[in-house]
Amino acid sequence: MRIVTANEIHLWLNQGHCIEQDGRGPKVVALADGRLLKIFRPRRRLWLSRLRPQARRFADNATKLNTLGIHTPEITDLGWFDKKLAASFCLYQPLPGETIDKIYRRERERFMALLPGLACFIRELHHKGIYFRSLHLGNILLLPEGGFGLIDFLDLRLKSSPLSRAMIRRNLKHLRNYLKRSCTEDFPWSKLLQLYAEAENDSPNRGK
Ligand SMILES: Nc1ncnc2c1ncn2[C@@H]1O[C@H](COP(=O)(O)OP(=O)(O)OP(=O)(O)O)[C@@H](O)[C@H]1O
Ligand SMILES: [Mg+2]
Repeated sequence: MRIVTANEIHLWLNQGHCIEQDGRGPKVVALADGRLLKIFRPRRRLWLSRLRPQARRFADNATKLNTLGIHTPEITDLGWFDKKLAASFCLYQPLPGETIDKIYRRERERFMALLPGLACFIRELHHKGIYFRSLHLGNILLLPEGGFGLIDFLDLRLKSSPLSRAMIRRNLKHLRNYLKRSCTEDFPWSKLLQLYAEAENDSPNRGK
């Protein structure tokens, strides 16, 4: 994997616009040419991330999701951002669309109309054996042509068969916890579960 030069980092960070950051620095930067730069800084087990860089995992996950028919951004480049810290980066074209989170906060009626489709999409992920640990509204995009796509899929497990009931419960709990953390107590959670169950009943091969 290539190591990015100090000059390149300087240009990216100075000419780009930071979309997300934390105490350790920028996490997602919109570059001047329209691409997005995502920086991965592992907190633990740096040795593991050196052997298997997070940017590589991210790009591999994008390929696997695409193979399963799930839309993701197209990764165009990856490399080391700071090898000593096992920090790596990916460059990608943004997936056109808006996060569900934004729609939920700004256009409640539109969000309610999307809920059945969203329940089906989550069910589709589970049915395809996709266990997306960061399942939440900020990581699901509504695509301009309709349908949904995923971003932020570093933590992913893929099973060769539909997820078991226990895994589905655990995954839905991630979403529930996210909603609690982001103070969305009025979220139509029971409705989503009901729609999910309906989608499940319609599906030919149900999870065990
Ligand atoms: N491929 C993409 N297409 C469109 N917008 C994107 C894309 N990737 C990131 N974004 C925007 O950047 C925001 C943050 O991106 P992302 O979810 O990848 O990082 P993060 O949430 O900061 O990461 P983490 O969940 O690891 O803390 C998203 O909510 C979205 O607005
Ligand atoms: Mg995110």
